[in-house]
Amino acid sequence: MSETTQQTQTQSQSQTEAEAAQPLQTTSGESEERLREEWTDYRFDGTTKLAVEDLDVHYGDDHALKGVSMEIPERSVTALIGPSGCGKSTFLRCLNRMNDRIKSARVDGSVQLDGQEIYQEGTDLVELRKRVGMVFQSPNPFPKSIRDNISYGPRKHGDIDTSLLARLFGRSDEEAEEQLVERSLRQAALWDEVNDRLDDNALGLSGGQQQRLCIARALATDPEVLLMDEPASALDPIATAKIEELIHELSQEYTVVIVTHNMQQAARISDQTAVFLTGGKLVEYGDTDQIFENPQSQRVEDYISGKFG
Ligand SMILES: Nc1ncnc2c1ncn2[C@@H]1O[C@H](COP(=O)(O)OP(=O)(O)O)[C@@H](O)[C@H]1O
Ligand SMILES: [Mg+2]
Repeated sequence: MSETTQQTQTQSQSQTEAEAAQPLQTTSGESEERLREEWTDYRFDGTTKLAVEDLDVHYGDDHALKGVSMEIPERSVTALIGPSGCGKSTFLRCLNRMNDRIKSARVDGSVQLDGQEIYQEGTDLVELRKRVGMVFQSPNPFPKSIRDNISYGPRKHGDIDTSLLARLFGRSDEEAEEQLVERSLRQAALWDEVNDRLDDNALGLSGGQQQRLCIARALATDPEVLLMDEPASALDPIATAKIEELIHELSQEYTVVIVTHNMQQAARISDQTAVFLTGGKLVEYGDTDQIFENPQSQRVEDYISGKFG
């Protein structure tokens, strides 16, 4: 009996009949394989920062993410990999309810941040996104000065106020602003390059600098989790190396969840890796070394060795 058949039999015992009756969904080049729960049952030491359970996302009638459960450890780098269209960005956006902004999106299931459900009525979305910040694929600084890009968030949240009115009432936070700008830019490894031109327009920076500015901007509101969706895919190799080094450093203090289509990058920078494959399913999740050296799923092995995707 072939190994595949054995796996199929073991798996079908733990599956509901309805699920087992569904045709396997693969793209061309993928082998047929029933998923096994133990492939995603990742045990780790340390504290869970985000716990995702049975997450389903629909865009209208399209079922983009199917029954995803995974726990994300705090102060580490979790990489999400998989072929285009398998739901990585959708999953990432669930972690700070960014999908709420997409009209056709419907999210079912549970996401807990430090044990608290974020999909419950009354969740303060501004506060949530302050705790769970996001950095996008292409750098998107505001067309404002470098300084204003950093202080924009804290101002919006009322954490700094340098207005004339505030000064009249004896509350000027200019010094706090300067400190915050410096701290954030240092954390994003950009301070040395821009400290003599904080009033220059951010759009004059290089692509790599702009992306580090966006990271600094996300850090300025004191987040706990940083979500990054292919943050280096628009950058040259040198700028990419800087971002990778930065991500590694940030994980000492923050919980970083990063989508990347670059497998070498995932292998270099992450502590654990989650592999999403066709059909919006999480197929395997584990220590990055294990995923890349000894994956349990044949399809994951094929994907990692470049047979499809
Ligand atoms: N805003 C949206 N509206 C409708 N469908 C979407 C939207 N975003 C993503 N999708 C669909 O959901 C699936 C997963 O997409 P996505 O999460 O962007 O995948 P990935 O990031 O892995 O490439 C795809 O089929 C995509 O077409
Ligand atoms: Mg994406």
